[in-house]
Amino acid sequence: MRPANVADYRELARRRIPKVLFDYVDGGSYSEATLRANSADFEKVRLRQRVLVDVSKISLKSQVLGQELAMPMVLSPVGMAGMYARRGEVQAAKAANDAGIPLCLSSMSICDLKEVVRDCGAPIWFQLYMLKDRGHMKELLQCATALGCPVLAFTVDLPVPGTRYRDIRNGLAGDRSWHAPLRRAWDGLTHLDWVWDVWVNGRPHTFGNVAPAVPGARSVGEFWPWVRSSMDNTLTWSHIDWIRENYSGKIILKGVQDVEDARQAVRSGFDGLIVSNHGGRQLDGAQSSISALPPIADAVGDDLTVFMDGGVRSGLDVLKAMALGAKGCFLGRAWAYGLAARGGPGVAHVLKIMRNELLTALALTGCTDVTRADRSLLIDAQAALAEVKASGPAPAGARTRAPKAKLAAE
Ligand SMILES: Cc1cc2nc3c(=O)[nH]c(=O)nc-3n(C[C@H](O)[C@H](O)[C@H](O)COP(=O)(O)O)c2cc1C
Repeated sequence: MRPANVADYRELARRRIPKVLFDYVDGGSYSEATLRANSADFEKVRLRQRVLVDVSKISLKSQVLGQELAMPMVLSPVGMAGMYARRGEVQAAKAANDAGIPLCLSSMSICDLKEVVRDCGAPIWFQLYMLKDRGHMKELLQCATALGCPVLAFTVDLPVPGTRYRDIRNGLAGDRSWHAPLRRAWDGLTHLDWVWDVWVNGRPHTFGNVAPAVPGARSVGEFWPWVRSSMDNTLTWSHIDWIRENYSGKIILKGVQDVEDARQAVRSGFDGLIVSNHGGRQLDGAQSSISALPPIADAVGDDLTVFMDGGVRSGLDVLKAMALGAKGCFLGRAWAYGLAARGGPGVAHVLKIMRNELLTALALTGCTDVTRADRSLLIDAQAALAEVKASGPAPAGARTRAPKAKLAAE
């Protein structure tokens, strides 16, 4: 099968990795309404087709947070990527680096910061949650500083974990029934390519960054209870100074959906923020990220760097987000599907596809520099925004419930 887009990579990932893992990546919280809205609302934003513009030269380059990006995309932090492909975070970081963009490494990754920086050979961004164990947090922040990570994404939309029904049903959250090991074994045996790549050759399967704080834990299952009980939900704006004291790079706030929070982020001295609802994995019923973006960009876009993530599945989505005020998009499941389907080459191909889609979208809207994308590229921007804003959660069956792609056998 020759994948043509991110939806095809989703289907390839579904076939290649165990169901428990695919559902972990693919799923959202509760009824998954916000997960669906994240993608479906992009379709309500319509681009203006323009003609007879010289589009022989198009620039995708942008400067964000003192760094040049070859295109306005960053790989979002995605936990446990080292379980989708052998040493997955390293493979993804290399693919991103080759494409001229950074990976933002999840603090809940399998490969730790040192391994990824060493094997990728280029600086990466790092993501952190507020952990109760401040001593360990301090070590992580100092490690990120020492390794030259230029940007820290501080994730704040997970004071408590949202419930994902798929994970409960699959036993990811800990199923102690007698038949659970049999089900897990069957899941593995029906995905032998993954077993050889990851289960046999991709060890150790620890959460590398937090392993020193969880002595004795050797498997993903043994880490989950610690992860769940370690999020510090006493976190408030007053703790931000502590982070700054221990980290010297740029800090961006990940998980903002509200204009008031965005304004507070400016007052608290953040360098940027990511409009995000954690990919529909936290507050189900929250608005889609693309509908939350415009008022936030209008309110604070001149004061800090505004990014967005959630439902970005094509270069066209990236252009729409840029037109609505983002300085760049973080890609979550898009790269995770690529990694799960084909490892590093899968991530590289996803990025190539999205780059080409963005180039084409720019050419057909008559825009030759992605940093100049604004609302003039949209059809009736006001109406589009009102429609996106007014939209409730997308109905079941909308875009992310992608139809099983009908793909020819290779
Ligand atoms: C499997 C999975 C794991 C994730 N793990 C993290 C994480 O460890 N830290 C974090 O800040 N966000 C995490 N996220 C959220 C992503 O960084 C990002 O906000 C989200 O995936 C964007 O939505 P999209 O997948 O629709 O692009 C995770 C998302 C997924 C799908």
